[in-house]
Amino acid sequence: LVAGVDSSTQSTKVVVCDAATGEIVRSGRAPHPDGTAVHPDRWWEAYTTATADGLLEDVSAIAVGGQQHGMCALDESGEVIREALLWNDTRSAQAARDLTDELGGPQEWVRRTGMALVPSFTVTKVRWLADHEPENAARVHDVVLPHDWLTAQILKQGNGFERYTTDRGDASGTGYFSSTSDSYLPDLQELALGRVFGVPHVLGPHEVAGRTDGGMVVGPGTGDNAGAALGLGLRPGDVVVSLGTSGAVFADADQPVADPNGLIASFASASGGHLPLMATLNAARVLTAAAQLLGTDLDGLDRLALAAEPGAGGLTLLPYLDGERSPSLPDATGTLGGLTRSNATPENLARAAVEGMLANLVSGVSDVRRLGLPVERVLLIGGASASRAVRAIAPSLFGVPVAIPAPGEYVGLGAARQAAWVLSGDDAPPAWTVTVEETLDPPSDDDGGSVLERYATLLETVHGS
Ligand code: XUL
Repeated sequence: LVAGVDSSTQSTKVVVCDAATGEIVRSGRAPHPDGTAVHPDRWWEAYTTATADGLLEDVSAIAVGGQQHGMCALDESGEVIREALLWNDTRSAQAARDLTDELGGPQEWVRRTGMALVPSFTVTKVRWLADHEPENAARVHDVVLPHDWLTAQILKQGNGFERYTTDRGDASGTGYFSSTSDSYLPDLQELALGRVFGVPHVLGPHEVAGRTDGGMVVGPGTGDNAGAALGLGLRPGDVVVSLGTSGAVFADADQPVADPNGLIASFASASGGHLPLMATLNAARVLTAAAQLLGTDLDGLDRLALAAEPGAGGLTLLPYLDGERSPSLPDATGTLGGLTRSNATPENLARAAVEGMLANLVSGVSDVRRLGLPVERVLLIGGASASRAVRAIAPSLFGVPVAIPAPGEYVGLGAARQAAWVLSGDDAPPAWTVTVEETLDPPSDDDGGSVLERYATLLETVHGS
């Protein structure tokens, strides 16, 4: 048996799988506190709760997938200096702007790190610490990521801990690592904190991080999106669209990408390659907000949206309810365009919400294509992929077949697959298969294009090009 952990923003989930087939035999979970600044001890408590009652009995290997980018600042003795600032903590917005200017603009960050800087990335949080908490900044010895910290805690319960470790996937989201040269960039660390600080050792995709006293092998772990990619077993031509609290579009690639527009970040994957990725702030919660506005629930929203004609009678929603990261519009709010007396119906509004949420992610898929990667199939995952309206509308907007994998803990599954890979010592991960629930083809009488055109026009009108 092998185990995979998903230490996400909201909770810790642990799946225990058959190492040969990937079949999940048991699982556990425990919630994390709300908020965008959380003490890492809370993740350890959630992990111990989720694995209580012998969940890890007979488990030979484990690996941790986790929320990316969070800054866990440690002092010389390995003590946590302050609450970790998470990927969705926006207090470092000014730091991101300052660092961007100091290096010579967004293009310089794309050139050095493969991505334009946004407040999610660790380097901006380090600068925030230097600017706002100089006493804490002076104590920083190491900065590690949430999954690195949890991996170390698992090993620190016995004598298995030697040094902090990470993997290329999560390291590539720090803003001081290049997934092209596979190395840290000390000058960017220095730009953030005024000096170079300790960073975890980067392990290969199936290298051993350590062994627990009980003999369990611990894998390198990875960031959540790289973990999901491994869990889903992406093949060339697949693009994942994840509709969770936040949205993500990503694909597996052999080569790093450099997006001159800065929308696609050049992350590394957990399988030795690359993971070009666009992350958005507005996905499943757009549907919850629209349902609330219409005085209904998600089922009711589906019913209304499906009763409207495609195109929502000309209504268009820019769904930036939480500001937006891609495109970079941190202060944006939602905009409803094209409202007339004749199209002002609950049905059209519901449909515009679904179309608008998807249109933002369609632009990410188009960007993946623009960078020269094949797009043959969209894999739709995350909470909102269960929506009947989303399933009905997505194929027309994406313009390629949309496959819906069976609902699953793909981050945890990816971590478990990594653990099985580490255990086997083989060159490639074990061949686990994922069940696809249904594949939906785009309609032939397609008017998805006109929806996307209206979306692009409204975006340009409201926010400029
Ligand atoms: C990716 C990102 C999110 C977090 C959420 O860049 O910020 O997907 O990893 O867990």
